[in-house]
Parts: sequence; C-alpha cells; structure tokens
Amino acid sequence: MTSTAVLALYITICCVVFIISKIIISVLLYKRWARKRRFVEESLSGGKIVMFRSTITQSLSSKAFMKKTMKLTNKDIIGSGGYGTVYRLVIDESLTFAVKRLNKGHIERDRGFERELNTMGDIKHRNIVTLHGYYVAPQFNLLIYELMPNGSLDGFLHRKWSDEKPLDWQTRYKIALGSARGIAYLHHDCIPHIIHRDIKSSNILLDQNMEARVSDFGLATLMEPEQTHVSTIVAGTFGYLAPEYFDTGKATTKGDVYSFGVVLLELLTGKRPTDESFIEEGTKLVTWVKGVVEDKREENAIDRNLVLFPVDEVKKVFAVAEKCLEPDPSKRPDMAGVVKMLEEITPYKV
Ligand SMILES: Nc1ncnc2c1ncn2[C@@H]1O[C@H](COP(=O)(O)OP(=O)(O)OP(=O)(O)O)[C@@H](O)[C@H]1O
Ligand SMILES: [Mg+2]
Repeated sequence: MTSTAVLALYITICCVVFIISKIIISVLLYKRWARKRRFVEESLSGGKIVMFRSTITQSLSSKAFMKKTMKLTNKDIIGSGGYGTVYRLVIDESLTFAVKRLNKGHIERDRGFERELNTMGDIKHRNIVTLHGYYVAPQFNLLIYELMPNGSLDGFLHRKWSDEKPLDWQTRYKIALGSARGIAYLHHDCIPHIIHRDIKSSNILLDQNMEARVSDFGLATLMEPEQTHVSTIVAGTFGYLAPEYFDTGKATTKGDVYSFGVVLLELLTGKRPTDESFIEEGTKLVTWVKGVVEDKREENAIDRNLVLFPVDEVKKVFAVAEKCLEPDPSKRPDMAGVVKMLEEITPYKV
C-alpha cells in the first residue's frame, strides 16, 4: 500500500469513528432529556400520569396531585365545552391548575394520543396555555393545564359583569396581537406545524396581566371529529368556520386565519358571531361588518361598552379582520402576515 492510500484509510476510519461517536452522544443526550422531561410517569389508580418537567411541577408529587384531583366536585367546575369539563385544582396558594376531564369515548386511546400529548407538552410560548401533563385511565382522561386567572375572552366580552369594567381599547388590541402571535407560533414555528382548528373567543384565555393565551390547540386533532360535541359544531359552523371548510371538510392554516378574523370582529363589536339579532335580520356578523366597512361607518359597529378609542386604529383593525375573512383562502394573509399588520397599527410596543 502506498503512503497516500494508508493516509486515506486512516482519515476514513477517523471520520467514521467521529460520526459514530457523535450519534451515540446524541442518542444518550436525547434519552437523558426524555427521562428528565417526563419526570413523573407513574401508574396510579389503574391509570398513568405524566407530568412534564418545569419549575412549577417539580415540587409536586404525582400522588398528591391525584389525591386532590379525586376530591374535585361540581363546586370546582369553571366551565365545560365540547370535549369535557374544566375544574380548578388548588394544590396550595401558589400552585393551581385547570384540569380538563375529557368526555369518555371521544378519544382514540392509542399510542398516537399520547404522542400528540407529549408534543403538546413541548410547546412553550408566552401566548400559548401550557400543558403541564396528562392522566390516562380506562375510566377517564385528564389534561392538566396552567390556570388562567382571568378566564376566557368569551367570558369577558359577553358575560354581563356587574363589578368588572369592560375591556378598554389598549387591552383589546393587546389581546388581538397576543393571540395572533400564539397562532402564528403554532403555524410557523412548531415542527410539525400545528393547525388549531378551533379558534374562538372561548379558546383565548387571559393571564393575570390580561395577556392572551391560546388554549386547546391540538385537541380537535386528538378527538374523533364525528363525535365532537354538538355545541362545538354549532359554534364552529355558524360562527367561526371558514366557508371552504363546508366544501372540503379539511382543516387548514388559512381556516384558522378566518376564525381569527371572526375573533377580531368580536373584539371590535362586542357581538357574538351567533348573536340572535343577526339571525332575526337574516344576516351574520361577518356580512354585517362587511357592509359597515364598505360604507366607512366603522364607528357605528364598535362595541357600545367601548367609550374611548382611537378611530384610525379601530379602522385599521377592521381592515385586518376583513383581510382574514376573505372568502377565497388564497387571498387571506398567513398568520405571520396578520401579526405584522397588527404590529404596524400602533407606534407603541405591545
Ligand atoms: N386553563 C384554563 N384556565 C382557566 N379557565 C379555563 C382554562 N381552560 C378552560 N377554562 C374555562 O373553561 C371554559 C370551558 O372550556 P372548554 O375548553 O372546555 O370549552 P370551550 O372552550 O367553550 O369549547 P371547546 O371545547 O370547543 O374548547 C372556558 O370558556 C374557560 O372559561
Ligand atoms: Mg376550550
């Protein structure tokens, strides 16, 4: 063998050894990370609880968590929706959760279900509600979320609060931008990309600073569509679903953009998309607002509870909503575009 051949062989062996060692190190690191991430994965009461590791959950034992969960009663219910009932779970003063008990029979309980949940547990963003863990058992399944102290946007806009002030313009704008950022993160930054499929005001929750947090992403994918609760179909069908969905039945990111456009109209007008007055007049929120914008009468459509507002900003948000609500999905902006348009509306940073 010539000296060049020996050198070539030597270099090849070194490269192979180097690559193999890198692969081994990566696998070991991944295993360590996976072990750490699921710091609690135990069999409890015939089911399995998985808590994702975080500063919030690390002081909590799974047994203590399940003990408290088993004691939940109707008094602890904070809401219910298409997929189940949501309870407030107080471990102690500084540790609270929102526990969603999923209706039985709605989910495909295979490995895919848990895989989806583990992916959801990896998603961390300031405008997304954190999933802290889950419990799977033959009798019932739980999703463990962080508790949002100010409830949902739906509650704030439509419930008749006796002691709460209506949302001011700055807060509405902050919620619009925050939720757009949350959805844009799901669409553009998550791998694989996530289509929410159920964007509506009750799935936009509000933290202690009235910052928007998108919730229930991935739930629609997790559940079998034909078994979805009737109210969800009604809310979606008559309120938030994009027109093309009725032809194709296919969820797309542009469908989420449309639903977000409806949420923007709700924030601006204070009206539900299924408001009875529209049904009486044979119209719907989206059609009504289209006419208002064409006639440049946006001030007349604004929520009556909103006393002070900058007219030019309001008009610009109406214009963004109109773009999101384009009947042709290809003409709608993507969520990154929506965030940019909303950011450009005001000079101050939100
Ligand atoms: N993490 C949470 N923190 C605080 N409140 C919550 C939380 N999750 C849900 N809620 C409350 O519970 C209510 C019901 O939520 P749920 O998700 O079950 O139904 P929904 O959002 O109305 O419909 P869908 O089932 O289609 O999502 C919400 O409107 C909200 O007020
Ligand atoms: Mg919800």
